[in-house]
Amino acid sequence: MNLPYAEPFKIKMVESIRKSTRKEREQWIKEAKYNLFNLKSEQVFVDLLTDSGTGAMSDKQWSEMMIGDESYAGASSFYKMLSAINNLLGMPYYLPTHQGRAAENVLFSTLIKAGDFVPGNSHFDTTKGHIEFRKATAIDCTIDEAFNTTLLHPFKGNVNLQKLEEVFKKHPKEKIPLCILTITCNSSGGQPVSMENIKAVSALCKKYGIRLFFDAARFAENAYFIKVREKGFENKTIKEIVKEMFSYVDGATMSAKKDAIVNMGGFIAFRDEELKKQASMYNIMFEGYVTYGGMSGRDMNALAQGLMESTEFDYLESRIGQIEYLGSKLRAFGVPFQEPVGGHAIFVDAKRFLPQLPKEQFIAQTLGIELYIEGGVRGVEIGTLLADRDPITRENRYPELELLRLAVPRRVYTNNHMEYVAVALANVFERRNQITKGLKILSEAPIMRHFTVECDRV
Ligand code: F0G
Repeated sequence: MNLPYAEPFKIKMVESIRKSTRKEREQWIKEAKYNLFNLKSEQVFVDLLTDSGTGAMSDKQWSEMMIGDESYAGASSFYKMLSAINNLLGMPYYLPTHQGRAAENVLFSTLIKAGDFVPGNSHFDTTKGHIEFRKATAIDCTIDEAFNTTLLHPFKGNVNLQKLEEVFKKHPKEKIPLCILTITCNSSGGQPVSMENIKAVSALCKKYGIRLFFDAARFAENAYFIKVREKGFENKTIKEIVKEMFSYVDGATMSAKKDAIVNMGGFIAFRDEELKKQASMYNIMFEGYVTYGGMSGRDMNALAQGLMESTEFDYLESRIGQIEYLGSKLRAFGVPFQEPVGGHAIFVDAKRFLPQLPKEQFIAQTLGIELYIEGGVRGVEIGTLLADRDPITRENRYPELELLRLAVPRRVYTNNHMEYVAVALANVFERRNQITKGLKILSEAPIMRHFTVECDRV
C-alpha cells in the first residue's frame, strides 16, 4: 500500500476549547445580533471564521521571535525578511506593512486615482473596498466556470482573457493603473490560478503596458495546486514553482497572516525600485518607517521563517489534504459545496442548501447561524452581506454565489475536528426543509458592512 500523508509536525502545546449547549448558543447568537463576528471566541467550539492570523507558529518561528531586532531603522529582521523575499519570490524590493489591507492601502495610494479601473479575478473584499474608496472601479474578469459550483474545473481562479482584453481595449492605459491576480482566488472559493493563465495574463498586460500585481496571500497553496494539477509541474519543487509564478508579475501585496503562517504582518514586493520609492512615502505616513512598516522585528523574523515552512511540499500536502478530508465527509452526506475543494476552505453552496429562502433574506448568513446553533462551529458568509451595496445606486448587490466559507486555520485543528464539523453541517442539512425564514438587517455600515451588521430573524 502507498503510505498516506501525515502532518510533518507533532504537537508541543495545546489550547483548551469548550463545548457549549444549544440553548446557550441560541442566546449568544441572538445577543450577537445574528452576526458571527460579534461572538466572543469562547462562545465558539471550532472556529472556521478565517484562516487569517489564526495559524499555529512552529518552534522555529517562536525561536526567531526571541532574536528579533527592534531597531527603528535598519533592523537585521528587515534584512532577514528581504532575503526571504529575494530568494523565494525573486523580488528585489519590499516594504513591510502590518497586514494585507495595509499593503493595499499603501500601494493603491501610490497608483490609483478616482475614475480608474482595476481588473482582476474576483478581488477580495478589502481589495475592492480600497479600490472603491478611491472612487475607482474593480472589474471582475474571472472565468464563468467559477460560478458553477458543481463543475470540476482544476483552476477556477483563472482569468477569462477575452474579458480582460475587453477592459484593456475599452479604457485608456492611463486609467488602468494595475491588474490584480488573487492567488488563490478567495472570493471564488479558494480556487487556484494555473501557471498557463498567469503567463497569459502577464503577456496580455505587457502588450497593453499595464502593471500586473499578485494579491499573494495564499501563493503557496496556489503553487501546490499547480504542482498536483498542471501538466509539466509534477516534478518541480514548490519553491521552483513559486519563483516561476512571481517571474511573471511586477509585484505583489501580501497578507502574511495566511501563507507566511504568522498572526500579524504583511508586505508589498516590488520589481521596480522607482515605484517602491514612491510607495515609501505612503508607507512612512500610514505604516511606519520603511524598515519596519507596522511590524515588530520579532514578527518580521517569524514571517521570514514562516515563508520557508509554508513552501514545503509535505506541509502543503497535509494542509490541503485536511480540507479535502472535510470535503470528502461533506460529499458523503450530500452537502453541496464549491468543487473542487479550495486551498484554505470549503465553500458551502448556500443557494443549493436552502433553495427555498429568498435572496433578500441573506441565505448564506442564515446557514452560518444555523451551523453555529447546531454545533458551535463558526464559518463566515461570502454572499450578499459581504457584497455590500452598489456604491452609486445603493441597492443590495446579489452575487452569483451565496457561500458559507469554512476556513481552516493552519496547523491548528485535527481531522477529528473536521469530522465534528461535517456531522454538525449534515445535521443542519437533514433539517434544511424546516429552515423557511432568513434574516433582515437592522443596521449596517456604508462599506464592508458584514463586519458590524446587526440583524434579526425575519
Ligand atoms: N487579500 C486576500 C485574498 C485576502 O483573503 C485577505 C484577507 C486580504 C487580501 C487582506 O489581508 O486581512 O491581512 O488585511 N482575508 C481574510 C479572510 C480576512 O478571512 O479571508 P488582511
